[in-house]
Amino acid sequence: MKVVITGGAGFIGANTCAALLRAGSGDGPHGNPTGATPIEVTVLDDLSSGRMSNLSGLDVTMVEGSILDDDALDASFAGADSVIHLAARPSVPRSIADPVTAHTVNATGTVMVLEAARRHDVGHVVVASSSSVYGSNPTLPKTEDMTLRPMSPYAASKLATETYTVAWASSYGMDTLAFRFFNVFGPLQPADHVYAAVVPAFVAAALDGRPLPINGDGSQSRDFTSVHTVAATLTDAVVRRVGHPAPVNLAFGTRTTLLELIGELERQLGRPLEREHRPPRAGDVPHSQADQTRFESLFGHITPVPLPEALADTIAWMQSARAADPTGSTDLH
Ligand SMILES: NC(=O)c1ccc[n+]([C@@H]2O[C@H](COP(=O)([O-])OP(=O)(O)OC[C@H]3O[C@@H](n4cnc5c(N)ncnc54)[C@H](O)[C@@H]3O)[C@@H](O)[C@H]2O)c1
Repeated sequence: MKVVITGGAGFIGANTCAALLRAGSGDGPHGNPTGATPIEVTVLDDLSSGRMSNLSGLDVTMVEGSILDDDALDASFAGADSVIHLAARPSVPRSIADPVTAHTVNATGTVMVLEAARRHDVGHVVVASSSSVYGSNPTLPKTEDMTLRPMSPYAASKLATETYTVAWASSYGMDTLAFRFFNVFGPLQPADHVYAAVVPAFVAAALDGRPLPINGDGSQSRDFTSVHTVAATLTDAVVRRVGHPAPVNLAFGTRTTLLELIGELERQLGRPLEREHRPPRAGDVPHSQADQTRFESLFGHITPVPLPEALADTIAWMQSARAADPTGSTDLH
């Protein structure tokens, strides 16, 4: 089968390429079940935040281009059985600085991906939405049907991503699956730039001996998810061609505060870590925790990688990436 991954040179995308290729060769990633159908992977990425080095050693076909360009979409989607649409302009603060680009890439880009899938009769499209769509609704855990109150242009654009996907399913008879990812972390996630996610920002600061930058008092909580669990789930979704008429949380109902995360990092590194509190960031959601009932009904056999194990894996990756390229192989270029 042929699978196209938009944004496949990015953090989640490249980990997913690796998981798909392993599954196609008969190996289930992290003990999770997969099919053994040979899988051919095509990546469509404009390398705006992804990088070719993320794909080194992976036997994928690379189409360098934008999801906003029909020619690039046609070149990659022809003959595809499934599309995993991850290409986006991620980051809440980045969207606050540049909301029009967030809208263009995340909302208009999704419409162009869905239309290209329709042109090429792809029939199965999996997309990445985000827990940020829950926004300021304080209820925990987050059930998919609760009222959504996006707090940032990024969250609004991700709501557009999932809403268009569900609408294309009912209008054009496609099988689609819109996942809401919750704070995904792990190897290949860039650390040393202004829009870095919290786990790589903390791990990089700890390894460099810098104070850990905490926006606010650190009591904010997140449902952290290993990228290996996300990649295994995306792989399983395309192998079994799973669709669902409404968005699905991809997380496991855990809730870890930033201070607890730092405590675990201190335990693993065996030393106390200095902290530097900064003002809370606009658009940041205070607490996040998934209700996983819908996920379990579709993917009950997926076993998540536990947080301590996933954090150890992230630390080990960042140490080896820095040893291989001390000038900053984890930078956003
Ligand atoms: N990382 C998380 O915790 C998280 C949480 C919720 C949702 N998501 C979603 O998951 C997806 C992947 O995120 P990620 O963390 O891997 O980010 P990433 O920045 O590493 O990946 C995004 C990829 O999309 C590519 N891209 C951007 N604009 C493009 C365009 N116009 N055409 C083609 N490619 C383009 C980038 O070059 C990059 O490779 C995104 O849709 C993001 O919104 C991520």
